[in-house]
Amino acid sequence: MREVASSVELRAATDAARSAGAGVGFVPTMGALHAGHRSLLARARAENALVVASVFVNPLQFGPAEDLAGYPRDRAADLAVLRAEGADLVFLPAEGEMWPSRPEVRLRVGGALAERLEGLLRPGHLDGVATVVAKLLHLVGPSRAYFGQKDAQQLAMVRRMVDDLAFPNEIVACPTVREPDGLAVSSRNAYLSAPERERATALYRALRAGQAAFEAGRRDPPAVEGAARDLLEDAAGVEPDYVALVDPDTFEPVKQAEPGQVLAVAARVGRARLIDNVIL
Ligand code: PAJ
Repeated sequence: MREVASSVELRAATDAARSAGAGVGFVPTMGALHAGHRSLLARARAENALVVASVFVNPLQFGPAEDLAGYPRDRAADLAVLRAEGADLVFLPAEGEMWPSRPEVRLRVGGALAERLEGLLRPGHLDGVATVVAKLLHLVGPSRAYFGQKDAQQLAMVRRMVDDLAFPNEIVACPTVREPDGLAVSSRNAYLSAPERERATALYRALRAGQAAFEAGRRDPPAVEGAARDLLEDAAGVEPDYVALVDPDTFEPVKQAEPGQVLAVAARVGRARLIDNVIL
């Protein structure tokens, strides 16, 4: 596995692979790699001749009150995971390589993607993600880029960006990887104490309650959302931010529950803010 810190070197390597006709798969990450990231890498490995990953904690997507400085960083552990999953090339830019000066031209996300749920609670977050993902896609030039369903709103935003701005990359969505008790794997789970870790299972139990209401025939969105919200509100030590049934592409609220829609939740447990979702 080759480690590259310069964008010029990265471009040269991926250009060479592309002209040789190799399919290039790309997995962008912020490091602290876990089973969720590993599933993206494994899928990329199965579908491409060259697998490129990036590890970059992007300051543009963190709000002023968010955990940028405290975001878990472990270069040696990340490289071990990337090697084990068979990545060929890893891009590890320093902040000054990615953003030599504060970028003055950025992408701005609009519509419900920007105004609802994560968009509403983390102003500017998705703009920062869009801007860095656009730059990374330009640098790597992958045939396919892999994103987790766990961050459903981010995934919808990236798909929309690629459509709106004619990026030539295929976006591949990968299912959410969970712990045996259902908790979605996340770097932020490291912030949970043992009792908080136990309480955090309420998110997935809530989603399953919503899913069960739908499967029992409920089609009015408040009934599906309410089944999930009741469970979340009854859980001690869990502070819900939202429970919402939305269109998977636009994140607009839906008029009637239908298969394929996304039931999304966010809640604070201790000092962690957790998000999760299921597809009805
Ligand atoms: P990060 O949080 O490191 O996540 C990288 C990718 O892993 C994302 O596509 C995310 O959805 C996926 N992922 C995380 N947990 C997952 C799980 N339990 N199951 C499946 N996939 C999971 O998301 C980011 O980084 C950044 O915003 C980034 C796209 C790299 C831009 O900076």
